[in-house]
Amino acid sequence: MSLSRTDAPKGYKLLLDARRNLGTAFSEQQREEHGLVGLLPDGVETMSVQLDRARAQFAEQQTDIAKYQYLSALQDRQERLFYALLRSDFQCFMPIVYTPTVGEACQRFGHIMRRPKGMYLSTRRRGKLAEVLRNWPVREVRFIVVTDGERILGLGDQGVCGMGIPVGKLALYTACAGVPPQSTLPVVLDVGTNNAAFLSDPLYPGLRQRRMTGDDYLSFVDEFVDAVQKVFPDCCIQFEDFTNTHAIPLLERYRHKVCCFNDDIQGTASVAVAGLFGACRLAQSKMSDQRILFLGAGNAAVGIGDLFVKHLVSIGVSPRDAATRCWFMNSRGLVHAGMPKLPSYLAPYAHALDGVAIPSGAAAGPDSPITSLADAIEALRPTAIIGVSTVQHAFNERVIRTMSRLNRRPIIFPLSNPTSKSECTAEEAIRWSEGRAIVATGSPFLPLHYGGKLFVPGQGNNVYIYPAVGMAVFATRAKRVTDEMFLCAAESLARQTTDGDLAVGLIYPPIASIFESSVQVAIEVAEHIFEAGMAREPRPANVAEFVRAKLYEPAF
Ligand code: NAI
Repeated sequence: MSLSRTDAPKGYKLLLDARRNLGTAFSEQQREEHGLVGLLPDGVETMSVQLDRARAQFAEQQTDIAKYQYLSALQDRQERLFYALLRSDFQCFMPIVYTPTVGEACQRFGHIMRRPKGMYLSTRRRGKLAEVLRNWPVREVRFIVVTDGERILGLGDQGVCGMGIPVGKLALYTACAGVPPQSTLPVVLDVGTNNAAFLSDPLYPGLRQRRMTGDDYLSFVDEFVDAVQKVFPDCCIQFEDFTNTHAIPLLERYRHKVCCFNDDIQGTASVAVAGLFGACRLAQSKMSDQRILFLGAGNAAVGIGDLFVKHLVSIGVSPRDAATRCWFMNSRGLVHAGMPKLPSYLAPYAHALDGVAIPSGAAAGPDSPITSLADAIEALRPTAIIGVSTVQHAFNERVIRTMSRLNRRPIIFPLSNPTSKSECTAEEAIRWSEGRAIVATGSPFLPLHYGGKLFVPGQGNNVYIYPAVGMAVFATRAKRVTDEMFLCAAESLARQTTDGDLAVGLIYPPIASIFESSVQVAIEVAEHIFEAGMAREPRPANVAEFVRAKLYEPAF
C-alpha cells in the first residue's frame, strides 16, 4: 500500500501514533469513532492481557541487546504499554533500558538503530539551533537530557551513539517518578567524535570529524542553552555524560542563569550521600565520624565530596574540617597539596601530607607519594571507599581486607558503570570482608548468601534521585535546580529505607518499590522548592496531592 502518513485515514494514523495507540485495547465504540474497524483483530483486550503478551515476547528474546531492541520498539509502537510494562517489574526491565545494557546499546547504536528518537544538533546547524529545535513536534518541553557523547558511562567517547543515554534516562523519569513523557526530549550535541573505530565505521551515523574543542565548543553549547530558553522557556536541562573537563565548568557557567543540573555530579552525589546515611544507621555511627577515600577525582567524586561537605557544614562542622574528611585518588595517585596541574575544583581537597603516615615501601609516582589504593587506605584509615574511577577490579582483595581490618563495618561503594567497570562485585566485597562490608554498587548485582545470611546489595545509582527531583521541578516549575534540593532528596530517600531493608544489608529502599519512593522524594523536594521560594507555581494547600495529581499514569 502506498499511503503516506498525511493522506492516511485517521484510524490508521492513530495506530501509528505511539502516544495514543492502545492497540487491541480500543473499545468497540472507539473503533467506530476513530475509523479503526477492520484495522485490528476483533477481540477487545485489556491492558493486562497486552502486558502478558509483551512479557512473553520479551522473554523470548535471546540476548540483553535483543531485549533492549524489543522494548525500544514497543516504546515506538505503544508508549503507555511500554511504561506500564516497565512499572510492572523494575528489577527485570531497568537493567535493560538503563545500565548495564544501555552501555552496550550505545556502543552498537550505529548498527542496531531503527527509528531515531530525540534530536541531533550538529555543529553544521550552528547559528540555527533554535530553528532546528522548532522541528520537534511538541511545544511544551519541560525536560531535556543532553549529552555530547564524550564520556558515556565508563565507556568513553561514543559520539552520537551516546543518544541511548538521554533516551534511557528520560524513560526512567517517566517510569520511576511519573514525569509525563510528552514533556521530555532527548538531545545529542554532535560536536564530532575522537573514537577512531567510529570514524572508520561506515555505519556510524554522526558527523565524521574530530571533536570541536575550546571556545568553539563553548559557544556552540551556549547557543544550544540560549535556543532552549527561546523555544522551550519552561524547560529544565539535564547535562549528562560530559567529560570532567567540560561537565564541571558547564554546570558553573549555567546553573545560576537557567534551570539546569548535571546528574553525574549532583544526582550521583545525592544517591551516594543517601547511601552514607543508610550506612551510618547500619554501622551505628554518625556522618561526622566518616572519612571518605574516593578512587576517581572526576565529576561523580567531586560531586559526592561537595554534597557530603555541605551536609556536614549544615550540622555544624566547619567547611575546612569537613573538606579534610575527603581524600581523592586520580590516575596519578593520591591528590595532595603539592600535586601539579590540579583542576581548581579539587583545590578544597588537595590536603597537605604533613601528619600522613605514608607506609614504608608505598608505591610512589612522579606526582604523588602514594599511587596504590591499599597504601592510601593504610595511610589515611578511611571509614568508606567510593569507587568512581571506571577501573574494574580496583577494589581487590587486599583493598577490601585492609578496609575490613581497620573498620568493624567498612563502607564499600563501587559505583562505576556499567558492570564491566565496577571496582568490585558485591559478592567480592561481602566475601573478602567476611560479611561485614556495607555495600552499594552502581550497576545491579543479585542478592547473595554468605555465612548463612542473605545480603541484598543496594544499587547506588542516581536513578533513585534524578527522576524524583525532576518530578518536583516539573510540578513546581522551579526556577533553578540547587544543591539543597539534592541534599533534601538524599535525606528523603534515606528516611524511606526500613529496618527490614537494613537487616539484609540494603541501604536504599528496594528497586521494586522505586516508584513509591520516588514519588515521596518528589513530594518532599517540592515542599522544599516552595519553601525556598524557587517555584513558579503558586504554593498549593496540599503539596502531596498537588504532586500526585500531576503524575503520568500509563493506564488505558
Ligand atoms: P570522570 O571521567 O569525570 O572521572 C573519572 C576519574 O577516575 C578521573 O578523576 C580519573 O583520573 C580517575 N581514574 C581513572 N583511572 C584511574 C586509576 N587507575 N586510578 C585512580 N583513578 C583513576 O568520570 P565520572 O563522571 O566521575 O564517572 C566515573 C564513573 O562513575 C563512570 O563509570 C560512571 O559511569 C560512574 N558513575 C556512576 C553513577 C551512579 O549513579 N552509580 C553516576 C555517575 C557516574
